[in-house]
Amino acid sequence: MRQPIIAGNWKMFKTISEAKSFFADVKGKAEIDGVESVICAPYIALPALVEAAQGTTIAIGAQNVHFEDNGAYTGEISGVMLKELGVKYVILGHSERRAYFGETDEIVNKKVHAAFKHDLLPIVCVGEKLEEREADQTKDVCKVQTTEAFKGLNAEQAAQVVVAYEPIWAIGTGKSSTSADAEDVIAYIRSVIADLYDAATADAVRIQYGGSVKPGNIAEYMGQANIDGALVGGASLEPASYIQLIEGAK
Ligand code: 13P
Repeated sequence: MRQPIIAGNWKMFKTISEAKSFFADVKGKAEIDGVESVICAPYIALPALVEAAQGTTIAIGAQNVHFEDNGAYTGEISGVMLKELGVKYVILGHSERRAYFGETDEIVNKKVHAAFKHDLLPIVCVGEKLEEREADQTKDVCKVQTTEAFKGLNAEQAAQVVVAYEPIWAIGTGKSSTSADAEDVIAYIRSVIADLYDAATADAVRIQYGGSVKPGNIAEYMGQANIDGALVGGASLEPASYIQLIEGAK
């Protein structure tokens, strides 16, 4: 059985004090048996969140990592640093990083390997642009992105990857994919992983849907056989709505 996983992607929101206040509000309430809660925050809020999360079941994640351990890479943060901090997850290949910071499938794959090297669990984002959807290329895009991201991973590592299917046109737009459409693409992504590895590995991989997920539609996505949770932007920023998302994933 795959444990549902709800991850809040705060993107570039919240100061350290705002992060602390958010955590105090969700502590205890966003901890529900059978659902994994994750908060992926800006780097500078991570130390405070990791400390606050001690003794709770809420996991803390970063939103990016550099693929080298150290070096002359001004402005970057490495897996060594995140590991020492006590971070558990790292979002990789988010469409905003692909679009605004030039991340290619090859870079995403290097980052996936860096994550495993330092015992961080990757949440790998895949998903099509609006024009790709309109050209009926959704599955092809997801297949290439998934295949490239998993390159060089053994089956044991592959089984631990969390994939987030985020159709780009649904991010922050209020236009969510229907649950049936999301299920169709996510089932396909699982079949791609089965072809790369085997059925047991594909069965173990958790695949989230992301894109305008709200407390009002989370249950619909969770009702689909292949959808194991959500990667949530906007609706993860308010404590009450974050708690409702975790409750809705049960
Ligand atoms: P929204 O939930 O704000 O649409 O963002 C989705 C997303 O990009 C999560 O990574």
